[in-house]
This record gives sequence, structure tokens and C-alpha cells, in this order.
Amino acid sequence: MKKIPIIIDCDPGCDDTIALLLAFANDKLDIKGVTVSAGNVNIYNTSENARKLIGVFRREIKVAKGCEKPMFKTIVTAPEVHGESGLGCLILPEKNKKLEELNAVEFLAKTLKESSEKITIVITGPMTNIAVFLIAYPELKEKIEKFVIMGGSSIGGNVTPSAEFNIYVDAEAADIVFKSGVRIILCPLDVTMKAFITEKELEEIKAIGGYASEVAYGAIKNALDFYKEFYNKHEVPMHDPCTIAYLLNKNIFKGKEVFVGVELRGEFTYGETIIDYRNKFFKEKNALSLNEIDRIEFVNMIKVAVTKLKTVV
Ligand code: RIB
Ligand code: CA
Repeated sequence: MKKIPIIIDCDPGCDDTIALLLAFANDKLDIKGVTVSAGNVNIYNTSENARKLIGVFRREIKVAKGCEKPMFKTIVTAPEVHGESGLGCLILPEKNKKLEELNAVEFLAKTLKESSEKITIVITGPMTNIAVFLIAYPELKEKIEKFVIMGGSSIGGNVTPSAEFNIYVDAEAADIVFKSGVRIILCPLDVTMKAFITEKELEEIKAIGGYASEVAYGAIKNALDFYKEFYNKHEVPMHDPCTIAYLLNKNIFKGKEVFVGVELRGEFTYGETIIDYRNKFFKEKNALSLNEIDRIEFVNMIKVAVTKLKTVV
């Protein structure tokens, strides 16, 4: 079976962690590297979380630290959701996995330059690293197969009334990526809010056993506690794993080819994504925006991944 070469750009982060576990467990993916962004928490903590997760589960994968702030703004983080560390109360063991000497932008350039095939870039955090890469190495854009992005929303925001976090943190970077001309698969809140895990399913994940189930339980539980406290919800959306799930089985999703753009100048709407499902702007369509998911199959994919990683740790 031909593997799918990917690079994951992420800001772990509780749901990023589940996306990473999903990717680590599936040999359909050839993970060329993980690059780290600042978002859920600061770049030091997101890098530490990525470094330690890879040290535990897939230590051969290279991990490179990225930009510590957005292109033009000060960083906005979400410790209220992910905890100060970015992983709630989870304490990951030290396996002495080293970060790459190259920063994320240089690592992206080197990996794409040296690859004999195009690489899919999965983005589950603010897009600063990717935007800076596109500006610095325009000649390497042709080596990107597509972007699979968790970000945006047409159903209202989770940071402002209209802006989703990953876009809001660095909307200028998102604008560069949306206008890049590279094929985009977008996983906005439209679909990720439907990709939730219930308390019962969380207990089923815990019951699988093994260290991966502890990590998955700890990461999801932290996010669930936030949703319980602030939204009185007993289920928690798994935003970022939708990107990896799409690569593993796109048939569990439905979506529509659309124009996607981002607001940069609105006093109240900065970071809002325009997902033009009804083609009101008559603009060239630049993304497949997903808006339906087979949630049961999605949750099952996470359970299967946690079970497979049981043999690793
Ligand atoms: O809005 C959800 C997104 O913001 C997810 O990627 C989550 O990890 C946070 O980064
Ligand atoms: Ca994320």
C-alpha cells in the first residue's frame, strides 16, 4: 500500500495530541516530520509537548520548533482550555528526544526540497510557520500536495463571536495560506463540533489500557472539563483529529467545494472566515470545506489507534 507522505504542523494542545496519536498509530501515513507552532500555549510548551510525545511513541520522527509569535500580532493562547502546560494535568516522561537544530521553516524547506514526492501538510494550529515558509521559499510550493487544515468556521467563532482560534491567532498567515493556490481541505468548526467524544466513549478509551490510553484520556478529559464548566456540555469536540481522520478515511466526511477567505480589517470581525457555501461572491473556489462526519466511525478510529499504540508503550 502506498503511504501518504505528510508533515504535521501543530500546537499541542489536547486535541492536537489526539491527532498525533491517530497519525502515530497508522502506517498508511509516512510522517516526514512534525513542526510546532505557538497557539494553545507558548512555543516553549508546545515544543516540549511535541518533543516528549514523539519521544514516547515515535522517536524516529523529527520535530522542529517554529515561530514564537504571529506575523504581526502578539500571541493569544488558550491555557483555560489546554492548561498552562498545554496538556492539562498530563506529565509526559522525558525520553531525551531532541528538537531539530533547524527551525520549522527551515525544516519544511529542507524536507520538501529533498523529497522525491509531493508532501501533504496537515495544519492543526495557527498558520504562522506555513505562511512564513510560503513567503521565504515560494519555489517549493509546488512540492506541497495539499493542505489539510483545522481552522475557520461558518457557524460562529470560539474566540470572538465570529472567529475560530487557529485563524484568529494569526489571520494574516491564514490569508497567505488561503491565497497560496495550494489545494486545501478545510476542517472548520462546521464539522469539528460534530466530531465530539462523549463521557461514556472517553471511559471506553480509558478502559483500553496502555500508556496511549492514559495520554488520550488525560488530554480529552482536560478539554471535557472545560466544556463541562463553561458550556455545561458532557461531550467534547475533537477538532484537530478530523484532519488526520480525513487522510485515513475521507469517506466518513462530506463537504463542498467553496471559496474561503479571511477578514483582516473588521473591528469586530478580525479573523472571521468566509466559507462561501452558497457562492455569493462568485469567487474562484479554493477549498473543500467539510461539514458532515460519521461520528461513530471517527470515535472508533481513535479507539483503534489507542489500541494499536498499546503495543508500543
Ligand atoms: O478552534 C480549535 C483549534 O484551536 C484547535 O486546533 C485547538 O487545538 C486550538 O488550537
Ligand atoms: Ca491545535
